[in-house]
Amino acid sequence: MDLETLKGKAALEALTRVESGMRLGLGTGSTVAHFLKHLGEALREGRLKDIVGVPTSERTASSCKELGIPTVALEDHPDLDLGVDGADEVDPSLELIKGLGGALLREKMVASSCRRFVVIADETKRVANLFERSPLPVEIVPFAWRAHLPFLRDLGADPTLRTTSDHEPYRTDNGNVVVDCRFTPGARDAREIARALEARPGVVEHGLFLGMANEAILAAGDAIEVIGRER
Ligand code: A5P
Repeated sequence: MDLETLKGKAALEALTRVESGMRLGLGTGSTVAHFLKHLGEALREGRLKDIVGVPTSERTASSCKELGIPTVALEDHPDLDLGVDGADEVDPSLELIKGLGGALLREKMVASSCRRFVVIADETKRVANLFERSPLPVEIVPFAWRAHLPFLRDLGADPTLRTTSDHEPYRTDNGNVVVDCRFTPGARDAREIARALEARPGVVEHGLFLGMANEAILAAGDAIEVIGRER
């Protein structure tokens, strides 16, 4: 089964968690694109009603507009019922790396405002240990961004500035740059890395989503694996 089919299966399963009247956090990425499509269809066909969503990126906001999904601002609806988002890595304890799509800051703000946060992914995102497949995206203010490189190396990372296809620094929806940091899996505790990044002035956010997800829906060829926990 190809990856798009698997993403679609995970997205459809997540739709079964949505009830009429809910306020949703809407993630970003190619897996979430399937969820938005199914959600839009359910609204058009009247299977779901009175849904509003907070988009985590300009890209998701414009997809919502095209698909007829009503959106609201987080400041007007700071208590969301359910967030649905993709991930770049999901470990067995439901710890995540996110942000390869560049939306990590808004994604984390929205996820932390959701009573339940559900991750949808194809099976390739499942890892035994964080950092196995994905670099850790770190969003940094553009001012003196290079000054963070020695700090990131001391933390154990191999840092690379994310660039566009025109070789320009990639900018997030918030106008910041992203430095993708490769770590050796198991070499350093993810919580320790998260704490060090959070304490660093100029670092806006990082892609470690620790203790945030309630459930991961991982679609494989023959089955859907659901990993759950209360938080
Ligand atoms: C966006 O910034 C990311 O956190 C995405 O949620 C993550 O990269 C997964 O994206 P895909 O569903 O496209 O793999």
